[in-house]
Formats: sequence, C-alpha cells, structure tokens
Amino acid sequence: MNDIRIAPSILAWDLGDLERAVEISVEGGADLVHLDVIDGHFAPNITFGPGTVKALRRRCDLKFDTHLMIDTPLQYVERFLDAGSDLLTFHAEVLDGSKFDELYKVVKARGKEVGLAIKPKTDLPPWALDRLDKISTLVVMTVNPGFSGQTMDMTVMPKLQKISGLVKDRGLPTDIEVDGGIEPENVGEVVKRGGNVLVAGAGVYGKKDPVKAISELRERAELARVKG
Ligand code: DX5
Ligand code: ZN
Repeated sequence: MNDIRIAPSILAWDLGDLERAVEISVEGGADLVHLDVIDGHFAPNITFGPGTVKALRRRCDLKFDTHLMIDTPLQYVERFLDAGSDLLTFHAEVLDGSKFDELYKVVKARGKEVGLAIKPKTDLPPWALDRLDKISTLVVMTVNPGFSGQTMDMTVMPKLQKISGLVKDRGLPTDIEVDGGIEPENVGEVVKRGGNVLVAGAGVYGKKDPVKAISELRERAELARVKG
C-alpha cells in the first residue's frame, strides 16, 4: 500500500487569504495542496479558477492536487496545467473513454499526473476499469461535490474497500484518495478501507490550530495503518 499523504483543501479557509492557507499546509508538513475548482454547473457552487491556482503557485512549492469539478474539463485543462497544477483530477460523470483519452494525452504531454474522481453514488465505469494503469490517483468522494464542512457519507466505505482491493489485486501503484468530511475521528476507518491520500478541509482549516491538525491527522492515519 502506498504512503499516507495529507492534502489540505484550501476551500475551507478564508478565501480572502489563500496565501496563508498554503503557508499553513507547508508549516504543517502537508504532502499536497488540494484545490477545489467548481464551475456552478457540475456542482452548486463557484470557487476559483486558473488565475488563483497560478497566484498560489508563486507562493508555494507543494504538489498541487487540482480537483476539477467542472462540466467541460477539456476546455480548461491546458490553463490549469499552465497555472502549475501537478495532479489534474477529472470527474468520471462527465467523461467517457475517448474524452478521458484526450485529457490523458494533454496532461501526459506536459509530464503531469491524471486523477479520476467519482461522486458518492457513482461506480467506476467500465471504460475507467480498462484504463486504471493510466490513472495515478483514484479519488473516491465521500460527500457530494460543492462545499467543505459536510459530514462524511459512511455508506461509501464498501465501495472504497472494493476499489482499493481491485487496485491491489491488479498490482497497480495507484493512489486511493478520499475526499469529503475527513476528521481525526474517522480517518482511521478510511485508511483501513484502503485510502492513502487524505483530503481534509474543515478537518484541517476548521480547527483551532490548523498547522497541528495536519500532523495529528497523519498520526491517526499512520496508527490505523499499523493496526491494520
Ligand atoms: C467538495 C470538495 C472537497 C471539500 C473537502 O466539493 O471536493 O474537497 O472541500 O472539505 P471537507 O474536508 O471540509 O469536507
Ligand atoms: Zn475536492
């Protein structure tokens, strides 16, 4: 199983002070910064775009995990690459095999990584199962896309376990990222079910000491890993 990695979601911080949000991630020893891009169509919220990602890139060297909750990723992927995204995650719900292949080509031509996300009620489609070796990160959402601070949907746990088992059976190096409602109290369960990249918005930025919250989440996750 891959290393535990913590990816704070800056959507949960004061959006007027995102510079501080990325500083907190650096100070807390986060592995990635999770950037939630929402277009008001795919999900009922509008967040930020490539301009913001670019501005944050100038202020932070951590790996940028850009979660594109948008209807037309092909239209925007180049701009997020130009802005400095390292991992570009697209949603299975707006793709098919050929659209995925196009996106894959664009991202790989720039030497970056492709992620594939699914909403809580979505299963991995057959075209994705045929392309697992092209996906560096499978993102299993445990809340409906749109907002930080929602409660984790625990009914997703069997699906998470199934997907991580599938990846293991095929001997793939794919990361399993879990996104939505991760808190110190439930991160252990997520790890036991096979999650290794742990996104946390409110679970980091909503805490009194967000810098410390990052290392606490990591400790809890590592402990669950050891206990099995
Ligand atoms: C939801 C986003 C999540 C969310 C995570 O649309 O994809 O990344 O911001 O925030 P928490 O951890 O607060 O659920
Ligand atoms: Zn996200």
